Amino acid sequence: MSETAKLKIGDNSYEFPLIEGSENELAIDIKTLRGVSNGVITIDPGYKNTGACKSAITFLNGEKGVLRYRGYSIEDLAEKANFLEVAYLLIFGELPTKDQLVKFHADIKDKAIVDDDVRKILDAFPKTAHPMGILSSLTSALTAFNPSSVNVDSDEEMYQAIVKIMGKLPVLVSWAMRKINGLPLNYGSNSLGYVENVMSMMFSKPNEEYTINPIVRDALNKLLILHADHEQNCSTSTVRIVGSSHAGLFASLSAGISALWGPLHGGANQAVLEMLEAIKEDGGDTKKYMAKAKDKNDPFRLMGFGHRVYKNFDPRAKIIKVAADQVLNDLGIDDPILDVAKSLEQEALNDPYFVDRKLYPNVDFYSGIIYRAMGIPVEMFTVMFALGRLPGWIAQWREMRLGKEPIGRPRQIYTGETLREFKAVQKR
Ligand code: SDX
Repeated sequence: MSETAKLKIGDNSYEFPLIEGSENELAIDIKTLRGVSNGVITIDPGYKNTGACKSAITFLNGEKGVLRYRGYSIEDLAEKANFLEVAYLLIFGELPTKDQLVKFHADIKDKAIVDDDVRKILDAFPKTAHPMGILSSLTSALTAFNPSSVNVDSDEEMYQAIVKIMGKLPVLVSWAMRKINGLPLNYGSNSLGYVENVMSMMFSKPNEEYTINPIVRDALNKLLILHADHEQNCSTSTVRIVGSSHAGLFASLSAGISALWGPLHGGANQAVLEMLEAIKEDGGDTKKYMAKAKDKNDPFRLMGFGHRVYKNFDPRAKIIKVAADQVLNDLGIDDPILDVAKSLEQEALNDPYFVDRKLYPNVDFYSGIIYRAMGIPVEMFTVMFALGRLPGWIAQWREMRLGKEPIGRPRQIYTGETLREFKAVQKR
């Protein structure tokens, strides 16, 4: 195949190199386009056809429903790995040896204390504050308590920033949830595993011994792994572009948390549960909601369905659907919401509108059913997504900075007024 792409604009022809990735993906390298064509640029709303970078972290094939972290399949990792080793894999590129994993966890625990003054910021929030707003604010506030911006050329400084945020974010997540539940803040225990300690910090009560439920632990471990990275999605692209201005890691993560909050992105897991609840309250009339989702005059969308990249089943949704059945069964929970979800899925999978547009359940469709079975409040669902996505955001930010990528600054096509003269107010 030719190594270049040819472009003809008017009487001029241009050639641009083709870039091929390790999975045979092809891109046209147009970095010289504006210069050679006297100002012509491309435009691609939502970047549906535009690559922002080369990356060695996550590969996904939307047509085939394939997802791999550093070459390992999501099915393998969800089944066999623990979240901390997947975090290490995403950030450093290899699965850790036992010694490396023990040291990584020890260093994270060593940095997991959050300055007590951060509580004062948390206390200032109203009880009704959405925990994603709290998490984004407290994550940005961490910069004030850890002021030295990361010198990415120092492996040690980069490593210290990574273990700090891997240790502190779960504390902020648990504080946000305990504020909702009116419980005193805590730190769990360094004797616990990473995921177990997240559970202890979130669920333990001051007046009773907290015992880890292995079913919940294993389900949470799987959910965090499934959410850990997803190449250049909206929030990861936000983390990368904010980091490209050389803003610090914590500030970049805070921006990513805000991007994830949107109901078209990570906020969908909360919106799915609210939608399923509404359908159940409405007598389980899934046909009415399917009609609303297809009605162009109705802004309603079937939350948890569709995906920018997956035009086949989201492999994560397949795994989570099986896990949801398992967790509810193991916990002896009969949640009618799961039945509503399954009948909605069946309807959509057989409806031409959804089939023609290749709209399948995505990662958010079933995850909330498991979070709910764990006793996590619905407004905390996207916070759990952020906790899972943390290592992916860190890995992508680190790759962007180590790759010395230029500051992100897209161009535009101006469509406003051409030059006109100012008129004094008396003459307007
Ligand atoms: C996540 O990018 C990632 O990787 C994200 C993520 C990650 O791990 O980081 O996977 C996590 O964000 C998953 C997606 C969660 N969001 C939702 O579940 C919200 C509901 N779904 C959507 O709004 C939508 O499907 C998106 C935002 C996910 C994708 O939108 P696109 O790619 O911009 O597609 P589109 O809006 O152009 O839709 C194409 C067509 C349109 O119809 P037509 O104009 O062609 O007639 O499909 C329709 C849309 O109206 N459509 C839907 C629909 N999703 C798309 N119609 C009804 N219900 C839906 N959910």
